[in-house]
Amino acid sequence: MAIISIASTKGGVGKTSLAFSLAKDLGYRYATNDMSVVLQKYKHARYYPSKIPLYENTVYDFGGFDAPNSDEILLQSDIILVPTTNDLNAIMKSLVFIKKYREKTILVFANMIDNPNDAATIKAKIHAHFPNLAFTYLRRTKLLKNALESGMSARELYQSSKHNQHLYRQSYEEYNKILRLFETDGHYFKVSKNND
Ligand SMILES: Nc1ncnc2c1ncn2[C@@H]1O[C@H](COP(=O)(O)OP(=O)(O)O)[C@@H](O)[C@H]1O
Ligand SMILES: [Mg+2]
Repeated sequence: MAIISIASTKGGVGKTSLAFSLAKDLGYRYATNDMSVVLQKYKHARYYPSKIPLYENTVYDFGGFDAPNSDEILLQSDIILVPTTNDLNAIMKSLVFIKKYREKTILVFANMIDNPNDAATIKAKIHAHFPNLAFTYLRRTKLLKNALESGMSARELYQSSKHNQHLYRQSYEEYNKILRLFETDGHYFKVSKNND
């Protein structure tokens, strides 16, 4: 049972792709305030252009921040995942966002990572301001894109053939780390809160 929000004020960082796969793999509802292709691909996906309702067992994909109560839902979330890519603009926007929600449990999700050094760089930049923030990353991969296009979650796509298990082995391992946070009830609460 959880309310998971995936949010950033930067577009194109992977919110929607991750939100869809996580929701489907957890059997959760997907709710968004932004038009997204997920609405055509997932039967438990709902679009709320104005007031978004608060539900348990839901992954919220906050693409736009014009929804009247997105702030309320972010504050009610058990965890907020903040995707960022390795560019200064994305990292800066993440830091501003994290500051606003620093009382919440946050997991920084560095996405589209080209090599481990990039992940370390992003982590260091975030930790310079919020030393204890939980951090994970996903390399540059077609796993989430191909999953969403096919209507399968990342796990379903990975498990669908030996070929896909070979193809997506490393990225699936990284994705699965995030998934596992939520699969054992309550574990995500142990994602350390920052206490700057
Ligand atoms: N780990 C990744 N590696 C490569 N491309 C990715 C990755 N994650 C997402 N993408 C791609 O980046 C683009 C933007 O992702 P999207 O989920 O729509 O971002 P947002 O919802 O934040 O705008 C999409 O084409 C998506 O397939
Ligand atoms: Mg989106």
